[in-house]
Amino acid sequence: MAAFRHISDAVAVITLSNPPVNALSSALLQAVHKALGEANEDSAVKAIVLCGDHGKFSAGADIREFGQPSKKRGPGLLLLCDLLEGSKKPVVAAIEGVALGGGLELALGCHYRIAHVQARVGFPEVNLGILPAASGTQRLPRLIGISPALSMITTGKFVPATEALKLGIVDEVVNENTVDKAIQLAKKVIDQPLGSRQLSTLPVQCPPNAEALLDEALVKVKKQFRGALSPQACIEALRAAVRLPYSEGIKKEKELFDFLYNTDQPRAQQYAFFAERKVAKWTLPSGVSWKTASPQPIRTAAVIGLGTMGRGIVTSLAKAQIPVIALEQDKKQLDLGSKAVMSLLDREALKMKQLGQSAAASQPGPVQFTLDYSKLKDVDIVIEAAYENMVLKKEIFRRLSAICKPKAFLCTNTSGLDIDEIASVTDRPQMVIGTHFFSPAHIMKLLEVVYGQNTSSTTISTAMHLGKMLGKIGVLVGNCPSFVGNRLMRLYIEQVIFLVEEGSKPEEIDRALEDFGLAMGPFRMMDLSGLDIGWKSRTEIGLTGPNLPTGTPARQRGSKRYSPLPDILCEKGRFGQKSGHGWYKYEKPGDRNAIPDPWLHNFLSEYRGIHNLKSRHISHDEIIDRCLYALINEGFKVLEDGIASGPEDIDVIYNNGYGWPKHKGGPMYYASLVGLPVVLTKLEKYYEANPDIPGLKPSGFLKKLVAIGNPPLKEWQSHLGSQSSKL
Ligand code: CAA
Ligand code: NAI
Repeated sequence: MAAFRHISDAVAVITLSNPPVNALSSALLQAVHKALGEANEDSAVKAIVLCGDHGKFSAGADIREFGQPSKKRGPGLLLLCDLLEGSKKPVVAAIEGVALGGGLELALGCHYRIAHVQARVGFPEVNLGILPAASGTQRLPRLIGISPALSMITTGKFVPATEALKLGIVDEVVNENTVDKAIQLAKKVIDQPLGSRQLSTLPVQCPPNAEALLDEALVKVKKQFRGALSPQACIEALRAAVRLPYSEGIKKEKELFDFLYNTDQPRAQQYAFFAERKVAKWTLPSGVSWKTASPQPIRTAAVIGLGTMGRGIVTSLAKAQIPVIALEQDKKQLDLGSKAVMSLLDREALKMKQLGQSAAASQPGPVQFTLDYSKLKDVDIVIEAAYENMVLKKEIFRRLSAICKPKAFLCTNTSGLDIDEIASVTDRPQMVIGTHFFSPAHIMKLLEVVYGQNTSSTTISTAMHLGKMLGKIGVLVGNCPSFVGNRLMRLYIEQVIFLVEEGSKPEEIDRALEDFGLAMGPFRMMDLSGLDIGWKSRTEIGLTGPNLPTGTPARQRGSKRYSPLPDILCEKGRFGQKSGHGWYKYEKPGDRNAIPDPWLHNFLSEYRGIHNLKSRHISHDEIIDRCLYALINEGFKVLEDGIASGPEDIDVIYNNGYGWPKHKGGPMYYASLVGLPVVLTKLEKYYEANPDIPGLKPSGFLKKLVAIGNPPLKEWQSHLGSQSSKL
C-alpha cells in the first residue's frame, strides 16, 4: 500500500500506492499514517517527500468506499493532513499526474509542493455531490485567496500545473523527475522554520468585498445547478473560512459535509461517475469487447457539411490536434462555414490559454476547406454531417465509398436515420458507424456511437476511441429510429405538447421541469433548436403537410393522439428564436431571452375552443410525472429491445447530452429512487385516462421488474430474460 524508504541523504520518501489512481482507501491512509509516524520518529530522517506510484499523486478519496460503514475506517484524511502539517521535519509533496480531492488536501497538508508540468490539481468533489471535507475549503483560501479558491471548489475544474504555479498552489513546476526534484528541495529546507508553510495558521487572503463575492456566487450556482446542494455548501464552507478561525471553519466544513452526505445527491452523483466509466467498457454478445477489439489510429479526418453540427465537429477534431479536411457543397456555404469554424477555433484557443494551457497545447490541428471530394482519398475517417435526408446521405456515402481509401472509416452524424440503410450503399458496411454528436458539438460531452448489423468491432473500438480523443463520453447503442436519446426525448416532447393542449402554458411546464433540475425546459429547448426541423421531418413522413390523406382528423393519426400545435406554429412562421417567436416571443430574431407571449395564450384558447378541449388546471406534480415517466417508460422499452446495454447507458446519455441534473443520477436512476412500483402505478393511471397515447402504456420489462419485487438498478439487466440484445 504505502512504501517507506530511507534515502541516504536523510530524506524519507513515502509513496502512495493503490493502482490505478492511488485512491485514498482506508488501508492506504492507514499505511501512510504508519509510514509518516516512522519517518518522524527516525532520527536519521531529516525531511520527507510524499509522492505517488504509477505516475500519479492521488485521485483523492476512494469513491468505492463511500457509503461503507465508517467504523471500518482507519485514521481519517483530515488527521493525516494535520499530521503532515504538524511534522517537525519538512514535508514536500511531489505531484505527478493528478492531485485531486483528498489527494490535493494531502498535498496542502505538506509544507512544500512541486508539480510535474503535465500534472493537474483540483477539487472535483462538487461533481460527486460533496465538498472537500478534509480541510480543503479552509486551507486552499489561506494559500491562494478566496476568489480563486471559490472558482476551483465550486466548479471542480482541473487546474494545469503551470496555472497552479501562477495561483501559488505549487511552489515549483518541473519537466524532469519530480521525485528527484522534491528530494533536492527537501534537502535544501532541512532545519528551516516551517511556520509560514503551515497553511492552517495563515490568515485567509480576503478582498474587502469577499462576502459580496460569495453572495454573487451563490445566486449564480443556484441558477446554474438548480436544486444541486453541493455547490451551495461549498460556498458556505468558504464563507466560514472568511468569517471564522481555522478550527471553527473546520467544524463548519464537517457539518456541511455531513448534511450533504445524508441527502440522496452524493449517491446519485457517485452512481453517475461510475456509470460513465462503465459505458466505456462495451461488450458484444459474441464476447468481443473493448478489451479485445483494437482501435485503428486516426491521424487525419474529414467532415462533410459545415452547418450547425459540422462546424462543431471540425472544431472538436482540430482541438484534439487531428488535421481535418472540411467539405461543403457550394462556395457560399464553404465561405460561411470556414469563417464560423475559424472563429470557433479562435475562441477555443483563447479559452485554453486562459486555463493556463501552453501555446503548443492551445494550437489546433490544421483545417483545410474544400469543395473537392477527391481531397478525401487519404483520410482515416470521414464524418458526414449533411442534411437529415436519407436520399442525400446515401448519395454522399456512395461517393465516399468510391473515393476514400479502403481502410477509411465512414461515420454519419444522423440523429436517427437507419445506419444499415446508409451502410448498404457502400463497399464497406463493416466500417460504417453512427457518430451522433450533440449541439454544440465542440462543447457537449456526449457521443452516441451507433452500431449497425454489419459494423465490425474494430470500427466500434475506433469510434469509441475517437470519442475519447475528443474528450467526449462515448456510449455504444443499437440502431433503431432516433437511437436512444432522441427516442426517449420524442415521448417527453409529445407529453409536454399534450399538456399544453389540456390547459398548461409553455412557461409553466418549463418552470416545473427546470425546478426539477433540467438545464432547459422543453419549450425553450424547442425554440432554441428551431421548430421547423421537426416540422420538416413530420412533413417528409406524411404526418402533416400536403401528403396527409384527406379526411385525417386534426388531432389523431391512426388510433393515436396527435397534436398539430407545433405544425400550426410553423405554418404561421413561428420557428422559435431564429424567427423571433415560437412557443415564446423574443425581442428580435436570434435573441435568447424567452418572453411569455400573450398572442400564444390567446391562440391556445382559440385552439382549445375549435377542438372542444376543456382547459383544466394541471398541477406541478402531474407535469413532472407525465413528462418524466413517459420518458422513463421508453427507457425500459429501449432496454427490452436491447438497444442500450444497461440503464447506466441511458443515464449517461441523459446526464451528458440532454441536461438531466446529475444530482438526480439520470432518468433510470431516478426511477429506481422513486421506486418502480410508483412509476408503474402512475403510468397505469395516466394510460387509463389516455388510452390513445401508447407512450404511456407501461413497458413489459417495467412490469416484470415490479412483479419480481423492484430489484436494485444494478440487477435489472439480469432479469431481462431471453430478449435478444442488439449490442
Ligand atoms: N476512487 C476510486 N476509484 C477511482 C477514483 C477514486 N477517487 N478515481 C478514479 N477511479 C477509478 C475509476 O473508477 C477507474 O476504474 P476502472 O478502471 O475499474 O473503471 C480507474 O480509476 C481509472 O479512472 P478513469 O477511467 O476515469 O481514468 P482517466 O485516466 O480517464 O481519469 C482521473 C483519471 C482524472 C483520476 C478520473 O478518474 C477522475 O476524475 N477521478 C475522480 C477524482 C475525484 O473525483 N476525486 C475526489 C474524490 S472525493 C474526495 O477526495 C473527497 C474526500 O476526501 C471525501
Ligand atoms: P445544417 O442544415 O445546419 O447543415 C448541413 C450542411 O450540410 C449545410 O451547410 C449544407 O450546405 C451541407 N451539405 C448538404 N449537402 C451536402 C453535400 N452533398 N456535400 C457537402 N455538404 C452538404 O444541419 P445540421 O443541423 O448541422 O445537421 C447535420 C446533421 O446532423 C443532420 O443529419 C442532423 O440530423 C444531425 N444532427 C443535428 C443536430 C442539431 O442540433 N442540429 C444534433 C445532432 C445531429
